[in-house]
Amino acid sequence: MKQKVVSILQNFTTELIEEHMIVVPVYTHLGDYSLPCFSFAKKQRKSPILIAQEMASCIQDEDIEKAEAVNGYVNIFMRRTSFTTAILNTIREAGKKYGSSNLGAGSAVTIDMSSPNIAKPFSMGHLRSTVIGNSITLLLDKSGYKTVKINHLGDWGTQFGKLLVAYRLWGDKKKVQEAPIQSLLALYIRFHEEAEKDNSLNDRGRAAFKSLEEGEPEALALWEWFRRESLLEFQKIYDLLGVTFDSFHGEAYYNDKMDPIVEELLQKNLLMESDGAQVVDVGENMPPCLIKKSDGATLYATRDITAAIHRKNDYQFEQSLYVVGNEQSLHFAQLKSVLNKMGYEWSQSIQHIPFGLILKDGKKLSTRKGKVILLEEVLNEAIQLAERTIEEKNPSLVNKKEVAKQVGVGAVIFSDLKQHRKHDIDFDLKKMLQTDGETGPYVQYAHARACSILRKIQEVDIIEVTEVNDFEWQVVTSLQQFPNTIKRATDEFDPSIIAKYSINLAQSFNSFYGNVPIVNDRSHLAYRIALVQSVVIVLKEALRLLGIEAPSEM
Ligand code: ARG
Repeated sequence: MKQKVVSILQNFTTELIEEHMIVVPVYTHLGDYSLPCFSFAKKQRKSPILIAQEMASCIQDEDIEKAEAVNGYVNIFMRRTSFTTAILNTIREAGKKYGSSNLGAGSAVTIDMSSPNIAKPFSMGHLRSTVIGNSITLLLDKSGYKTVKINHLGDWGTQFGKLLVAYRLWGDKKKVQEAPIQSLLALYIRFHEEAEKDNSLNDRGRAAFKSLEEGEPEALALWEWFRRESLLEFQKIYDLLGVTFDSFHGEAYYNDKMDPIVEELLQKNLLMESDGAQVVDVGENMPPCLIKKSDGATLYATRDITAAIHRKNDYQFEQSLYVVGNEQSLHFAQLKSVLNKMGYEWSQSIQHIPFGLILKDGKKLSTRKGKVILLEEVLNEAIQLAERTIEEKNPSLVNKKEVAKQVGVGAVIFSDLKQHRKHDIDFDLKKMLQTDGETGPYVQYAHARACSILRKIQEVDIIEVTEVNDFEWQVVTSLQQFPNTIKRATDEFDPSIIAKYSINLAQSFNSFYGNVPIVNDRSHLAYRIALVQSVVIVLKEALRLLGIEAPSEM
């Protein structure tokens, strides 16, 4: 609609009107849109007040009810009826495609996301990466990009040598089978405790990793087993979250692909020796990037450099995103810099999408020292809490278990996505499950409420809009902002824009529902039902873009 206002206003001035110049007034008595005229004053040698008055007096358009000049602003009041008819028809025609676009024109984007470390618990940080990455992918898909979701598993590195040693010394096959993550973590912790007393263990760990790198069958078989068991555990979480991946190529996948890359660095004169290790100097602002340790072992960065080059070849990406916590900013700056020094111009298209921590009572959630919070348990607790609420509020609901899952998991995802990803967020299960705050269940509830109206009244085809009251108008203007909101969220890789939008729409709908007799006033019935249908479509689609389901009853 803003675009439309721009083109209308353009007919009544010689100034160049652009979308960003038009503001939405805080108070409805100041109109739906407003154009400040202050920036025109100098060129026209007239006061903004006069400019606004002259412009307002000549504006005439079938979509504009009236234009008023107030203190140098031109306030625009849209003709609500024609505008509402247009929006409702657009949404009903497009259905869930409303807001879809082809802005991406099929260009490829890789999204490195989730990427937990095997043999360790799936942390809160990995949860954030998973849900933020998933939502960004859904947004990119909606805008016509071709997305590739990559789970860059942390399944390689010297720590697996340590784990092999620990398992051979103290491991118990049955325990690992019963609770893989917990028992492997316990072995890892024990290794570190014992290594403090006996330093030779560290040497054995290094030797074990070397044998793994060289493909020694027994070491490899054990490692594969750890990996398989870990993935089975992670899969339970992905199933709960409803997240899938296009690739599970993790760090180990690059084990046999690093030599040529290290060779290339050498050929390009980029490798330097530093305390026996091989490094790339990435300038004064950053410490050098470590490529090989003094014992010849490769590192996290070596694998990421290799992975980036392979991804470029495999997917021909135009953008390559890495959804990884704030704390790895230096690593990604180094990665870009090394690739740039290697002469790869596409290193510019690499982008770190950072995010903050999840805190509990203001403190960082830690997996160290046995204080393990198993994410699967957290999600299941959310589901149970949701089930209890359903049991209280709607005991006759048919598919309680399914709905409880949608609400519990949705609540966790929503509370993560509703704030800008760079902020740290507080983890409070009870709060995120409330149906009256700015929560996932609140939005889901508005959607279910709208669905219940449609269950009472069936199809209506002709919508004749003769009058649009303020409650309805709120809903309509919110509905029409959806496409532009998607665009902003996609451009900024910021799902919180969609989350906030969904809360606003749910709030407008709720006050419409609370103040307007939707079903009982026959004269506006068809139009109001069409409005409710549009709300259902858009709320459901907004939630879907966040990776959240929208039950039709709850
Ligand atoms: N496994 C890493 C971690 O848990 C995250 C990997 C992120 N992706 C990457 N390509 N470095 O810290």
